[in-house]
Amino acid sequence: MNMKYTITTPLYYVNDKPHLGSSYTTIACDALARFHRLNGNTVLFLTGVDEHGQKIERTAESKNLQPQLHCDEIAAKYKYLWDKLNISYDRFVRTSSPEHTSIVHQFFSKVLKSDDVYMGRQSGWYCVGCEEYKDVEENDKTPECSIHKKELEWRDEENLFFKLSKYQQQIELLIQQDGFISPKSRKNEIIKFVSKGLKDFSISRVNLRWGINVPGHIDHTFYVWFDALLGYVSGSLHDHYSLELTEKSLTNWPANIHVIGKDILRFHAVYWPAMLLSAGMKPPLRVFGHGFLTREGQKMGKSLGNVLDPIELLEFGGIDAMRWYLLRDIEFGEDGDFQMRRFVDIVNSDLSNTIGNLLNRTITMSKKWFSDSLPLDNPSLVDSPLKELSKIKINEYMKSFNDNNFKKSANAIIDLANSANLYLNERAPWKLIKDISNTYIVAQDIYSVLESCRLIGILLNPLVPNLSNRILKQLNIDSSSILFEKSLNWGLLNPSNVLNDPSPVMDKIEFNES
Ligand code: MSP
Repeated sequence: MNMKYTITTPLYYVNDKPHLGSSYTTIACDALARFHRLNGNTVLFLTGVDEHGQKIERTAESKNLQPQLHCDEIAAKYKYLWDKLNISYDRFVRTSSPEHTSIVHQFFSKVLKSDDVYMGRQSGWYCVGCEEYKDVEENDKTPECSIHKKELEWRDEENLFFKLSKYQQQIELLIQQDGFISPKSRKNEIIKFVSKGLKDFSISRVNLRWGINVPGHIDHTFYVWFDALLGYVSGSLHDHYSLELTEKSLTNWPANIHVIGKDILRFHAVYWPAMLLSAGMKPPLRVFGHGFLTREGQKMGKSLGNVLDPIELLEFGGIDAMRWYLLRDIEFGEDGDFQMRRFVDIVNSDLSNTIGNLLNRTITMSKKWFSDSLPLDNPSLVDSPLKELSKIKINEYMKSFNDNNFKKSANAIIDLANSANLYLNERAPWKLIKDISNTYIVAQDIYSVLESCRLIGILLNPLVPNLSNRILKQLNIDSSSILFEKSLNWGLLNPSNVLNDPSPVMDKIEFNES
């Protein structure tokens, strides 16, 4: 089954360097991308940055930098972090690129042709942090943004409007569709919002230079969201650098999934599909709104001084620890709390003890008693409770991954590793081996644990690719040719594989709380 699969992260604002929230979304998307590749699909994994708008213009101004130079600097920081986190993206979109501008212009002309644009007057309270007009109580004279805790700014200007209201019915049908919005709680929130009636929204700004010019309207630049959402299209064109918005160049569209935070769900599940319908294009197939991360129970923010720098976390715990903790401990879709003690405990327990020690002690026994070859004729016939259990756990893992439930998938791996440890302890091969007549039985026991380790190594791949590679390397397995369909059957570990000398695949994290 080879399917095209397009997956996107949000395009991150370049007002600041990447934080834990952006790392979280991107790691989750990377896990999905790797999972689908191992399933034999042709994946286009797109990420990038959202570079225009007032927020970015002001940030650059405050640093006395030209906006483009400021954007170059921050975009480089994103790329640097994604490389450190082993993010396997295929495309990195920059909305300040000329290719993107060309796509925005072509898209706009399609929307114009549908007669969906008109000039109107927009007055209201604006949050520059959200780049969004906010609904406020009528008698509130100094309203604040509930997210940014900053005073809103009053705006009153002539803007171009997009006829969102025209798409009320189509959007209602779309958001009801099974699987379009997940998780379910978020779907209900959007249904409620849409049922109140969709209002047209402004898609241009005056007095803002740092944006894409609107053809035919010399004082206007495009509203940053209208521009940024189109980054998904400009980044997914068949030839990334093609400037043509045509059927032929849209082979990677529609996106199979947009993964975003819950705060920007309306833009993705309502405004964006309507824009696409207006241009005669298909809406994305799925929008997944994940929750927000807090730190030790508190919202993270610059003013609170508790922002957790992903680079520091990486230096402290390493890439596998960071990826594992975020995917294994936090329910994807729900809010989650980052706790340092828990981070250390989970990583040490799961990766160093349960998985790392299992591999290490089993390889040690195998090499000691059987040198470089286990005396087995037909490994697929080696029977143990681990054979049956691995089938069950692989099924659980697959099903959960398809539901974006990384936590459950990770749990399935840990269940298998726990059972393999238990099996070793119960069978106690170190006792059995003392009697030479048990040699064959011990070889079978060791094989079934090593085979479980092989499966564990493969299943870990989308979540913690670096650790997965280290595990498979110890088992002397080439990880580059792995495909789930071919590699997850029981008995594929060659009993005469020369195992590499065991060395810990995952060091314990030392943590002193004081
Ligand atoms: N630029 C827009 C997206 C445009 S997509 C065409 C934007 N950028 S952002 O940088 O502000 O946010 C990007 C993502 O990070 C959002 O999905 C947001 O939900 C997520 N997060 C920001 N803080 C977060 C946490 N504390 N926890 C988890 N994710 C959070 O919005």
